[in-house]
Amino acid sequence: MFRFMPIVTMRLFLIPLLILLTACQSLPTDKKASESLSESELQRPDPHSLANFEDVVITHLKLELKTDFADKALKGHVVINYKKLNPDVKYMVLDTRDLKIRRVSLANDSKQQLSWQLGQAEATLGSALRIKLPEGEAAIRIDYQTHPKASGLQWLNPTQTATAKHPFLFSQSQAIHARSWIPLQDTPAVRFTYQAQIEVPSALRAVMSAKNNPEINPDGIYQFDMPQAIPSYLMAIAVGDLQYKKISEHVAIYAEQPFLEPAAYEFAKTEDMITAAEKLYGEYRWGDYDLLVLPPSFPFGGMENPRLSFITPTVIAGDRSLDSLIAHELAHSWSGNLVTNARWCDLWLNEGFTSYIEARLVEAVHGQQRMIMEAALNLQGLQKEMADLPEAEQRLSTCEVNLDSEDVFSGVAYDKGRFFLEWMEKQVGRADFDAFLNQYFDHFAFKSVTSKQFIAYLQENLMAQHADKLPLDIVNTWIYGPGLPDVLYVPVTDKFEVINDNIAAWHNGTRNLADIETDKWTTQEWLHFLRALPTPLDKQTMQQLDKTFDLSNSQNSEIAHDWLLLSIRYHYEPAYSRLIKYLTTIGRMKLIVPLYKAMMETDELQHLAQRIYQKARPGYHPLAQSAVDPIVNHQSDNL
Ligand code: BES
Ligand code: ZN
Repeated sequence: MFRFMPIVTMRLFLIPLLILLTACQSLPTDKKASESLSESELQRPDPHSLANFEDVVITHLKLELKTDFADKALKGHVVINYKKLNPDVKYMVLDTRDLKIRRVSLANDSKQQLSWQLGQAEATLGSALRIKLPEGEAAIRIDYQTHPKASGLQWLNPTQTATAKHPFLFSQSQAIHARSWIPLQDTPAVRFTYQAQIEVPSALRAVMSAKNNPEINPDGIYQFDMPQAIPSYLMAIAVGDLQYKKISEHVAIYAEQPFLEPAAYEFAKTEDMITAAEKLYGEYRWGDYDLLVLPPSFPFGGMENPRLSFITPTVIAGDRSLDSLIAHELAHSWSGNLVTNARWCDLWLNEGFTSYIEARLVEAVHGQQRMIMEAALNLQGLQKEMADLPEAEQRLSTCEVNLDSEDVFSGVAYDKGRFFLEWMEKQVGRADFDAFLNQYFDHFAFKSVTSKQFIAYLQENLMAQHADKLPLDIVNTWIYGPGLPDVLYVPVTDKFEVINDNIAAWHNGTRNLADIETDKWTTQEWLHFLRALPTPLDKQTMQQLDKTFDLSNSQNSEIAHDWLLLSIRYHYEPAYSRLIKYLTTIGRMKLIVPLYKAMMETDELQHLAQRIYQKARPGYHPLAQSAVDPIVNHQSDNL
């Protein structure tokens, strides 16, 4: 059994999330994936959707799909209920990408076909499906199937799973990939409920971002009901040889057998996190909170699919040191899933709030020390990342600037957002800030918000009471200004000071490496140590570090990542076999992208990078492939 170690922080890597929106090359197109959105696209209510959701909105979906592993396709139909906001609307425009549309008809009389048209494919947005609406609001049915390279799905061969016996399928819809497996209004501004019937090979189980019934169904047919309205990017499905283990009152794990017990141990604090979150921000409104452990090719750390967070196995470190990821995905049950950014340019309303709440939950469950160490690591990462970002991309809200669609995804939304909230908390005091957030989540529950709406609400409900502590100009600087305001509270921890002292003593020859007391170091201390080492490091020093701390064999995915990065930079060849193993077994973008980049920046290692990638690429998710292709100059064969 392999265990991976995850990463705690390093959100700086989120830059490669660029790939999120444009990663998927679409069908033949005259528009390049990397182009900015045009003026007319920016004028749309959501620049990332072609849907006419101001005139008509989806209210409920009913999916009936069969998973065809031989063809790597979902096949079936969706029934769409909708509501006309404009009584004169004649057409409904849906987002699609690379879907094969078979027919469109009335749901209750499938002989009555409706006329439809699929627009020209655009690399970023896909193709608009324009359907002539019937009189009234009669539900419509679309029969369709997905493309084997659908950007939002990954079809795994048995060898890419932990047991190597059965194939596996999972979705990743955020930000605009739901349209590659369901024709819908793919915008966070619209919410709908859904039901689904999914047919899978009888040895497998299907799970979704909905009420999951843990009973195995021998006929392979699984029913789902999602009674709370969600935006499209939270549509999620996974199919595999999944075992089930309930670990506490509200929490269960779905995982392939080898991951089940390790995950049950690793994520044992989840129930305590829920309790802490409810105390701070009000009731958890989604029923159960289950965790799905995916195969290692899952391209993210985690994804907050409601009722069932999707989690990378690379956070199973054996010591719960990387479970902040669970705090993060759980926190989205308030910030993101309950109160949702209306457009992707306001991602900070999801991710910044969530990163702040994550820190509060980590503090509640693991103590202040760990929270501060993670904050310090994140701040370092953010500062490094910002140094390379143009000013326009250093703002929290990017709706007013003409950004490439992909550039909204960076550590700015996460960590600058989080430090902004922490600044407000410290200014007004925890009691008032906690009460404010609790009330905010309740006020906007099941709604989408923009930065402007947030600011208006903040002015009325917090700034008015604390005018001297929260001046509008500073609030505006945080949200619309570049960089980090100097009012920022800088996290400081003795733990890292001790490490700095040790490094200094070793560096000036007054202490041996072996005499540094590392026995009780946590993952966060190791990461700080590796990042604070004086560089450049010569081969002899690398060897000494490896010999003393066995770093090339670290089973913690984050520590191994940082060590491999140093090994690449300073040409430490004994670590290369681990590097190859690492890159060919893990597909999490945050862990692999910086390693490929570092290799390509080193003349001698470019060839090795390309060789490793050739071997690893077929096992990577389409998003990860699109992220790494340009780095290693690989000619993409995606679609
Ligand atoms: N929702 C995000 C992942 C995401 C963001 C997917 C944007 C697609 C577009 C998820 O909650 C997340 O932030 N994951 C992080 C967790 C980390 C910051 C603790 C990750 O995957 O690394
Ligand atoms: Zn998140």
